[in-house]
Amino acid sequence: MKYITYNDESRVFVLRTNHSMYQMQVINFDTLVHLYYGANIGDTEITHRLMFLDRGFSGNPYEAGDDRTFSLDVLPQEYSGYGNGDYRINSLEVEHQDGSDAVHLRYESHRMWKGKYSLEGLPCMYGSEDEAETLEITLYDRISNLKVRLLYGVFPELDVITRAVRMENEGENPVKIQRAMSMEMDYPNRHMDFIHFYGRHTMERQMERLPLHHGVQSVESKRGMSSHQHNPFIILCDKKTTEKHGECYGYALAYSGNHRCEIEVDQMEQTRVVMGIHPYHFSYILNKGDVFETPEVIIAYSSEGLGKLSRIYHDAYRSNLIRSKYVNSPRPVLVNNWEATYFDFNEEKLFNIAKTAKEIGLDMFVLDDGWFGNRNSDYTSLGDWQVNEEKIRGGLPKLVQRINGLGMKFGLWIEPEMISEDSELYRKHPDWILRIPERRMTRSRSQLNLDITRKEVRDHVMEKIFEVLDSCKVDYIKWDMNRSVDNVFSSALPPERQGEVFHRYVLGVYEMMERLVSRYPDLLFENCAGGGGRFDAGMLYYSPQIWCSDNTDAIDRLRIQYGTSFGYPISSMGAHVSVCPNHGTGRTAPFDTRAIVASAGTFGYELDLAKLSDEEKEIAKEHIQEYKEMEMLVLNGDYYRLTNPYRNHEYVLWQFVSKDKKETIVNGVMLRNESNPHIHLVYLEGLEPDRHYKDADTGAVYTGAALMYAGVPLPVGQGDYQPLKFKFCMTDGDI
Ligand code: DGJ
Repeated sequence: MKYITYNDESRVFVLRTNHSMYQMQVINFDTLVHLYYGANIGDTEITHRLMFLDRGFSGNPYEAGDDRTFSLDVLPQEYSGYGNGDYRINSLEVEHQDGSDAVHLRYESHRMWKGKYSLEGLPCMYGSEDEAETLEITLYDRISNLKVRLLYGVFPELDVITRAVRMENEGENPVKIQRAMSMEMDYPNRHMDFIHFYGRHTMERQMERLPLHHGVQSVESKRGMSSHQHNPFIILCDKKTTEKHGECYGYALAYSGNHRCEIEVDQMEQTRVVMGIHPYHFSYILNKGDVFETPEVIIAYSSEGLGKLSRIYHDAYRSNLIRSKYVNSPRPVLVNNWEATYFDFNEEKLFNIAKTAKEIGLDMFVLDDGWFGNRNSDYTSLGDWQVNEEKIRGGLPKLVQRINGLGMKFGLWIEPEMISEDSELYRKHPDWILRIPERRMTRSRSQLNLDITRKEVRDHVMEKIFEVLDSCKVDYIKWDMNRSVDNVFSSALPPERQGEVFHRYVLGVYEMMERLVSRYPDLLFENCAGGGGRFDAGMLYYSPQIWCSDNTDAIDRLRIQYGTSFGYPISSMGAHVSVCPNHGTGRTAPFDTRAIVASAGTFGYELDLAKLSDEEKEIAKEHIQEYKEMEMLVLNGDYYRLTNPYRNHEYVLWQFVSKDKKETIVNGVMLRNESNPHIHLVYLEGLEPDRHYKDADTGAVYTGAALMYAGVPLPVGQGDYQPLKFKFCMTDGDI
């Protein structure tokens, strides 16, 4: 079966996945228009929806002669230029040598091949010839001879289509790209909602659903990172779409820097979406023969509601984006010393935490910030990647050996992109930072961004880090980034190329990470940016997990993890049990509840285990055992959001179902107990209706249908924030 076809007569392209379809057509004057994206509609080419009408104030291309009904201002397009009569938000803006900026893209040719295209130095989904097909459509601008190749990756089984754009200057003169979005999608007259994930440090990815309105609305980051403030993942859906029902479309940008997603509802009630690198402070000069590639957008469609859309992303990322060998296999359950000690530790304190960790069944000790240079506070030493032997007497190899001697693995924190002014590195290379000449720098957490657009800077940092990693057995790395990018100027680039700095910074990060993961293929790699400031599909290409948030409060985490689950697999969310009262919120939640919430992620601890009472240690042992028993469900299972924490203020529930539907776990938190309580029922999802399931606690047996359509009551508890958990396993035999 061919999943990409082209009809020579009608000039229609069709991309098919198992449950979705995408169509485009080359029409008059070699214009590539978008016809359709949605449910699989069989062999009908959706050409009948194009209507050509004379629209006032919507101009016509010169070639149209006296025909006033052909206007780019109202036609659905695949990738729109600028200065050609289309006044809506667009995909491409350039500046030519003569100062003009029009670009009019026309179809030139196309080719298709089995397997998935790749991008140079940028993360993207990968796929073998059995898994994916690629379509490349070449558009061109007649005057400049800029070639714009639209890339489409089709993953039939995953129900995912990817898009990216490769531009090549085949003209004689330089072209300055000023806006190069990764994709554009035009919808016909259709009233939709827009779901996005906003937030702040320690409160990332809060879900918001808004009706689309006339004009332009957008989410974006200009911080040089995908950001805590707006995630580069959005959903468009019908007004009636719910978790279980209705149509929805996801757009995920696999990029970790400045981004923008714009949505315009135009004069004809049509909706256009564009997504890609933020045009702010962006330009890229293409001399003759130069190539520029945009990051990739991963697109998915679901006709079965938002829950299904999320599961499409979870499966796609786990099978064809995350490359780590740990993606589908159990990860060492860790304890991280950050909230246990902050900067105040020595090797004995660390060893004692590791010792208790071993006693209670943990697998790995992670040494966080503070082990290098003179790093006794966050004012100093970033860049000096040598161990501080005053704190860790005998050095890192000795500590690691002792920890390994316990039967524990060892992990280490690094922050390679940064520099402190109080550091040997800064004293030696004060010019290695991003800094606008003559201007004072903006500090953030008292640190500066290294100019990692420069190869010698990247080489130096990575070599220093490799020296440490080669000196002892490190099984895990946490790569942190604790400030946004600012002072955006590289002394290594000429004035006309300063618009490239933000993007080159991100390419620098990717190159450094690629070096790390290819040199240490067995390393478990966790990304972090002050928690979840760089939680994006780009980062998942390098690391299977990302520290979800610096907020470890179990109750706040319910919303953070809920929002994150829309676009990212549960196995990608670093989640730890920390102490109470919580260091950030002062809130107290039961130990069991903290464990249940952290179990909806890559589970670990972040507290001084040596301070646990014997009783608490026994409970922690049980938590760890329980997590290990359910870990494969977290890593590989299907995830269902059973409640919306923004609507249901009484309890939050979520569910894992194994792919074979034989096992399911429902976990959650009763937020507040009431006197004389209502009976609350939980309705399970994703089970075999005609099979029997046994409650692992009570032994009661129900049909899958009974669990899904009649529900089971939540227990009546005492006190707020009580944990909720159910486990059901399929028993033999049909009804
Ligand atoms: C921010 C991270 O998110 C924390 O977990 C911790 O590693 C600190 N940085 C250390 O500075």
